[in-house]
Amino acid sequence: GEKYAEFDGKGMLYHAFSCFFFERLHKQGIATHFIERCSPIAMRVHKLRIVPLEMVYRRIAAGSLCKRTGLPKGEQLREPIVEPYYKRDVLGDPILAPAHIFLMELVSPTAYKQLVQQTRVLGDLLTTWLREVDFELVDMKLEFGWDVHSSLLLGDEISPDTMRIWDRHTGESHDKDVFRHDLAPLIPRYQEVARRLQIDV
Ligand code: TMP
Repeated sequence: GEKYAEFDGKGMLYHAFSCFFFERLHKQGIATHFIERCSPIAMRVHKLRIVPLEMVYRRIAAGSLCKRTGLPKGEQLREPIVEPYYKRDVLGDPILAPAHIFLMELVSPTAYKQLVQQTRVLGDLLTTWLREVDFELVDMKLEFGWDVHSSLLLGDEISPDTMRIWDRHTGESHDKDVFRHDLAPLIPRYQEVARRLQIDV
């Protein structure tokens, strides 16, 4: 929200990424809000009541983790961590401790455990898929919600806008940091991720 730009074909590219990941997750038996692709720019999804938390999975230090902890950018974490951020624009989406989450009754302790566990599973899977095509998943943001049956499902999108991806050999960013820090033209970097994953765009 702090920097604005428009890119030709961005919507179609993000749609293609999200459909690809949701379909691949379904093949692994992981339920998400995704039902089907309707067109190159639309998908049908289950309606969710969105959990007011953004769940961030991290494997390598970058972004706000470095600012918060002083860890150097690029440091491999001993094991992946999961952090909850409060979806409240007026507060600047702050990181919360579980005590705050339960204090405000944002989700129950059981649901929180489920959110952390699902975030880990999804992060580990995406890490594997990206490694297969020589990318390193650095971190990723996921959003979940409850469907009409009160099942917790992955929602929102999965694209290079919601994760950090580095080339395993060159260390080049192929994610929104390219735009955030004016590193290079953005769309070709995203297209390279799509090309390696054999996503039709
Ligand atoms: P951060 O280092 O800025 O906290 O970001 C961690 C990850 O979450 C990174 O992959 C980018 C993603 N993210 C979003 O998708 N949306 C957001 O609003 C924020 C703050 C981060």
